[in-house]
Order: sequence, then C-alpha cells, then structure tokens
Amino acid sequence: MMSAPLQTEGNSITIEPGRSLQGEVRVPGDKSISHRALLFGAVAEGATTIHGMLAAEDPCSTAECLRAMGVAISPLGDKDQPVVVEGVGLDGLQEPEDVLDCGNSGTTMRLLLGLLAGRQGRHFVLTGDASLRQRPMGRVSRPLCQSMGARIDGRASGALAPLSVSGCQLQGGLIGTSVASAQVKSALLLAGLTAGSDVSIIEPNCSRDHSERMLKAFGADVQVSGDYGRHVRITPGQPLRGQEVHVPGDVSSAAFWLVGSAVTPGSRLCLRHVGLNPTRTGVLEVLRTMGAQLRVENRTQITGEPVGDLIIEQGPLGPFSIDADLVPRLVDEIPVLAVAALFAEGTSRIQGAKELRVKETDRLAVMTRQLRAMGAVVEETADGLVIDGPQTLWGAQLDSETDHRVAMSLALAALNAQGSSRIEGADAAGVSYPGFWHQLGRLQASDDQ
Ligand code: S3P
Repeated sequence: MMSAPLQTEGNSITIEPGRSLQGEVRVPGDKSISHRALLFGAVAEGATTIHGMLAAEDPCSTAECLRAMGVAISPLGDKDQPVVVEGVGLDGLQEPEDVLDCGNSGTTMRLLLGLLAGRQGRHFVLTGDASLRQRPMGRVSRPLCQSMGARIDGRASGALAPLSVSGCQLQGGLIGTSVASAQVKSALLLAGLTAGSDVSIIEPNCSRDHSERMLKAFGADVQVSGDYGRHVRITPGQPLRGQEVHVPGDVSSAAFWLVGSAVTPGSRLCLRHVGLNPTRTGVLEVLRTMGAQLRVENRTQITGEPVGDLIIEQGPLGPFSIDADLVPRLVDEIPVLAVAALFAEGTSRIQGAKELRVKETDRLAVMTRQLRAMGAVVEETADGLVIDGPQTLWGAQLDSETDHRVAMSLALAALNAQGSSRIEGADAAGVSYPGFWHQLGRLQASDDQ
C-alpha cells in the first residue's frame, strides 16, 4: 500500500511522487473570459448570463468591485447556477463609498482603470494586495492620461496602486502600446467605449483577443486589422447589450495537467472542453515541438471562442525554444514549461520573456529559486531561462512565494522528484484554480482503482 499521495497541513501540502496521472478533467472556466463577461455585462443594457464562470479569487475581486459600484451580480460559487449580471448601462456605475479592492488581480485593476476613467463626475480609488501594489500600472495609466486625457494619480506618478481615478470625458486617438499586453489593450478599448472619437491601438505583438471577440458579441463597433490582428480600433457610440456567455475551460489551467501527463511516467489524461483561442495556444505548439503525445478532439465554437478536448500521454520529450514573438501566446504557461524542460532530452531556451518579472511575482526568479531547491540546474538570464534536461529532481521544502502558477508548477515537479516535497503557500492556487489540490489527489488516486 502506497502512502497517501497528498497531505495538507494548514497552508502547506506534502506531495509523494511515484504515481501516474490518469482520468478525465474538466478544468475551471477561463479566467480572462470570466473577468470580461463580468465587466462587459456590468456596463451592458439588460442582463448577462454567464455559464461556466470561474469562481476563483481573481474573478471574485472583479465581481466585488462591480457590486461596490451598484451592479447586482448573483453568487459566483454556485456550480449549478449560471452567474447573472444585471447591467447598468455604459454610464450607470455609481461612485463607490470605499476603496475598490482588486486583491491579487492585475486584470481587475487594469481593466477597471480603463472602464472607470471615462465615468464623468465620479471618483474611484483602486488598490490591491502587496503583490498587486508592486506591479506596473503606468503601462495603462500613462496612455490613458497622455493620449486620452484621463485623470489618474497614484504613487510613482500614477504607476503604482493605490490609484485614484477622477472620471472625465475622454478623447480618442491613436495609441501604440509599449508591451503586447491584453490587459493594456483591453483597458484602452473599455476607455474607448465612451471616448469623444475612435480609439486605435497598435500592439508590438498580438496579445490575447478575448476583449475584441466579446465586445463585438455585446454589440460594440470593434475593427481588427494589421499583421496578426495587432491593430484594433473601437468606435464609440454603440451601447452594449447583455448576452448569454459560455465560458470555456482555461487553457492556462489545462497546461498544468498537459505538462503533468506529458512528464509523469504511465500518465494519460483527457481534458474536456478547453478554450483553444489561437492567441492562447502557444503551450500546445511547444508541447508538439517537444514531441508530446497530444491530440485535439471534438473541436467546436462557443460564444465566439474555439474549444476542444485534449488527450495527452506521457512519452519521450525533446527540448523547445520560446522567443519574444511566441511569449504573448503562452505568457502564463512559462513556469510550468520550465518544469517540462527539466524532463526533456536536450537544452530548452526561453527568451524575450521579461514580462514574467512583473507578474504576480518575478516568475523567472521564483521558479529558478524553487527548482534549484530541488537540485535542478537552471540558468536564469535577463529575459528568460536556459534548462538542460533531463535532470533528477530531489524532494525539497518549496514555497509558492504567494504565486498561484508557481504553486501548481511546483506540484508537477514534486510529483516527479525523488522523495517527498512540501509546498508552502499552496492555497495560492485558489487565485485561478479552486480545487486544484483535490483534483490532483483524485487523478493520482485512480492508480489504486
Ligand atoms: C490577462 C493577460 C495577461 C495574463 C494574465 C491575464 C488578461 O497579462 O498574463 O494572466 O486577462 O488580459 P498581460 O496582459 O499583462 O500580458
């Protein structure tokens, strides 16, 4: 009889290696799409019904901020019930009585900055947890203020939260963004909904396009053009209309099981109904380059987003290279791909990924530190990682350092180490994947069946 594969104690979890991952998983709803459905639904006319909503900490932060501005939203946590947002219209958000708390969520803060900047005559203050208060907000507040006339103040000349927004009439314009960031692009699009004229945004590289797709579905006048959709224009004047939104499974959450199954001996997983938006599927391309046994079945579309089932088995893996052009399409999957690189035969290189240094943590530094604690040899460069595989990992005392994606990536490294590991700060996973640890135990436990 093997010892229990997972043991929780307070906020830490102990992982025993040696079991395969087997079975079927339905990953929780896409985080980016969940935020957008709440935000766009809030300023639409009529009700928006959201099926498959991600009831994790980050979307809950968005819902709480919107409720504080007078939007009625049904509870997020009831699995059998869709979430209903009673839209208040483009100008219906009320001035909140208190500071808006965005928690750990960069998407909440950045998209709200864009949405609130044009709410004339109202004042808003946005803050967040210790991690969010260190993250760069100037990439949103600067173009909003300099190009559209928004009034946003805060620490470091409006670059760090807490941030104060004095809503005013915004002007349109042509804005070249400094980074390929869907959060920046979406903030500008939301500001554009009530600007005096068109807002055109040109990105250095195409970031995820959920906002463009969903705003169009809600009735906004959004045009996409240019190489790979890097040029997006919104023409103000169209009201948004409440919609029925079906949220696909989050490919970024699926990535943990994809890598887990690809590297853990004897594993085979089927992931149902995962979002396959091409601006998000860089992780599938990398796994294919590595020679992973990966198949996509039952492709279809829901609410303008492609979805499908992913079937993946463990097998021999080769190395991969990621450069700046690919990074926006797998930006959240780099920590778990670093784990995959440790089990691949050859040298994997990640370059052009300095954005990882301003995520919930500096993910290049944190992953390097934590994997080194397991005995891994990882070279950290200014904008990436170089990892020679395969390597033997040793069970160790690990720490998520409060980062949800680090916590889950380390779990998969621990499953394939020699000896048991303990991960502190395991509850960070709840930011994007409530029930992750339970799911892991369930997929491992099936070895005993
Ligand atoms: C997100 C965009 C990405 C991603 C984040 C969610 C979004 O951030 O890392 O987890 O929902 O727009 P950037 O836009 O800063 O790249």
